[in-house]
Parts: sequence; structure tokens; C-alpha cells
Amino acid sequence: ALLAPKARPLAGKTIVMTSGPTHEPIDPVRYIANRSSGKQGHAIAAALARLGASVHLVSGPVNIPDPEGVHVIHVETAREMNAAVEQLLPADAAVMVAAVADWRTANTADQKIKKKPGESAPTLSMVENPDILAGVGHSPKRPGLVVGFAAETENVQENALRKLERKGADWIVANDVSGDVMGGDNNRVRILSRDGIEEWPQMSKDQVAERLAEKIAARLLA
Ligand code: CTP
Ligand code: CA
Repeated sequence: ALLAPKARPLAGKTIVMTSGPTHEPIDPVRYIANRSSGKQGHAIAAALARLGASVHLVSGPVNIPDPEGVHVIHVETAREMNAAVEQLLPADAAVMVAAVADWRTANTADQKIKKKPGESAPTLSMVENPDILAGVGHSPKRPGLVVGFAAETENVQENALRKLERKGADWIVANDVSGDVMGGDNNRVRILSRDGIEEWPQMSKDQVAERLAEKIAARLLA
């Protein structure tokens, strides 16, 4: 069907996104992961594409289909995600939704780690992963609009505001993940910016995506 040009206000705009978890290998058969389903990030990518944007989504391992109309790059680890995002700059906006693993193992074993009779359990030594959002927020190729998410279980507002500053973001979409948000279909978010806080009522992740995509469009066209 033909859509009126007004229905695709983001035509010509490029948006780089991350979504899903990352997997950090321990050995060839084991990894560290988290509960992110990718539902919220993928829904945002689809909503931005429906508004006409050229969306490049770097996705960690998820069990949901690639969003329609979106260019998807599949990665496993935080370092792979970071490299893919750097390759995609410059862009008009960045929306970083992935639940990036904060740490990876210091050494990945080449072979499956075996139990040895009489020996104690192995200790995993960890190192910090690159902060992909902070890298984008402080990049010489920084997009004009940088949006991050903040998954918090307590002091949501205070923690999210600190993330906004530290990562050089324009908006942080803060959600309280102390309930069943991760993996679920609903979300309750607050949008924090340097201009103040917008509280949104509880709605589906698809509705959050729709509304956020419209807010991004309004900002990119302002
Ligand atoms: N993020 C990222 N790279 C990381 C960690 C986080 O890009 N290595 C991004 C997420 O995609 C999200 C935002 O930063 O947009 C906040 O992620 P969150 O995990 O809430 O913040 P952290 O800085 O990792 O702090 P903590 O987990 O300790 O609360
Ligand atoms: Ca984190």
C-alpha cells in the first residue's frame, strides 16, 4: 500500500541500535548470559523502521525473529557488539537497548573445562566489558541524539540520571526491573533528560516502542 510521505517522517534518517543480551564464553560449551529477551529493543527497531528510518540493529542472541524492515547484524559478545556499533557510525541517532554483559571471563578456555576428582570447583576470573553506550556518547562521531536504557531494581531515578551523565546520553529510558519486566510483555518507563522527567503509564512493550519512536521522530525533525 502507498503511504503518504508524512507517515514516514524518518525517511532518510539512519539509526543505530543494540538489543538483546550478550553471551560471554567460559569455554567452548559454556557461557555467561542474562534474562534479556530482546523484545523491547526489537519492537523499537521495528517502530522506527515503520516511520521510515534506515535502522541498523546489532542484536545479541535472542529467540525472536528479526524485526521487519530492519538491517540486523547478529553478534554474541559485548566486544563484537561494540565493534559492530563503531562500524555503523556516523548516524542520526543511536538507541542502545541491549543488556550488555558487564563482565567477561578474563580467559576463555580452548577446551571444555573438566571436573577433576578431588579438586575444588573452578574460579572464574572476570574483566569489565567496553561500555558501548558511553563509547557512542563520547565518540567524535556522536549522533545528534543518543538514547540509553537503564535497568534498575532500586533508586531508579537517581541511578538513571547518573548513567545519563556518565555515558554522555541525551535521554535515558529508565525501567524498574525488580518485577517481571525482563522477558515479559509489559513495561513501565520514565524518560529522563536534562530537561526533566516524563513518566509513562504501564503499557505493552510494543506501545512503549511506538511512543518512543514518535518521540525520537519529533526530536530528529525539530
Ligand atoms: N550499556 C552498554 N554497554 C555496556 C553496559 C551498558 O552499552 N557494557 C548500555 C545499555 O545498553 C543501556 C545502558 O548502557 O542502554 C545502561 O545499562 P545498565 O546495565 O543499566 O548500566 P551499567 O552502566 O552497566 O550499570 P549497572 O549495570 O552497574 O547498573
Ligand atoms: Ca549493566
